[in-house]
Amino acid sequence: TSEGLGSPDDLHPVQQQLAAAGGSQCGYCTPGFACAMAAEFYRADRGAGTPDAEHGANGFDLHAIGGNLCRCTGYRPIRDAAFALGMPRPDDPLRERLTEPAPPAVATDVHASDGRFVRPTSLDDALQLLRDEPDALAVAGSTDWGVDVNLRAARAPLVVAIDRLPELRVLDLTGDRIEIGAAVPLSEIERRVGLRVPMLSELLPRFASRLIRNRATLGGNLGTASPIGDAAPPLLALGASVVLVSADGEREVDLADYFTGYRTSVRRRGELIRTVRIPLPLAGVTAFHKIAKRRFDDISSVAVAVALDLDDGVATNVR
Ligand code: FES
Repeated sequence: TSEGLGSPDDLHPVQQQLAAAGGSQCGYCTPGFACAMAAEFYRADRGAGTPDAEHGANGFDLHAIGGNLCRCTGYRPIRDAAFALGMPRPDDPLRERLTEPAPPAVATDVHASDGRFVRPTSLDDALQLLRDEPDALAVAGSTDWGVDVNLRAARAPLVVAIDRLPELRVLDLTGDRIEIGAAVPLSEIERRVGLRVPMLSELLPRFASRLIRNRATLGGNLGTASPIGDAAPPLLALGASVVLVSADGEREVDLADYFTGYRTSVRRRGELIRTVRIPLPLAGVTAFHKIAKRRFDDISSVAVAVALDLDDGVATNVR
């Protein structure tokens, strides 16, 4: 939180720079900007570089604050504050904390007047709960459901957090197919799978914003079966499948047979996507194109993914 970064008597460097550059007026957006800027401030491989439209001389990457909207200050003073940041001091407590692993997930069961929140620590526990409570809502990054909660006052009687389940966070690049756990955040896929799968390295930088990609997952994007889910076209072109798991067992479904309509799929109540499988070898030629009103952080007007092999100049296996 912004309060966790600093206090009025002891501002954090990003708060100091925001204040000095006049980067805050009404202040509504400021905590979000301060926290996003702090994450980039501490990025381990940030360092001095050649400035361009999206990077400061201090290496600050403006995509780190993408998706934060400011309606009264305007972005130039905020960018000035970002580009004026130095490097963290060696004894900066948050810098030191970031060298340690994240704490493990803690089993949680909270009852409130308008609902219940449960964080199971194993897939089996989550699946039992989803079987016993048919109205339960499984949530990973909450980048879709969170909008309904925030803007439409939606509430669920039971929310089951599946984002930290280790069984859903497996990334396996070693076999004759690539397996991407349903709860692996998109930014981690970008870092660890992007180089192996050119289609994903084309897709992911255009997928929402980095802040959203730090939370959003393939499981959520396919699980909601939203027609604006950008992951579906590339995964369909790559011939991917999903492994669905419930308390009764597992089944694998080709993604081509998975969607049945607007926000509907063959996924049954009580079933979760465990992993997404991309068969190898990959097609020889792949391309992804996204047409949207803005270059970044926008839904697709049209998203096109193509995969094919070239056999002596003849296109084969076209998807
Ligand atoms: Fe008012 Fe940004 S300072 S919205």
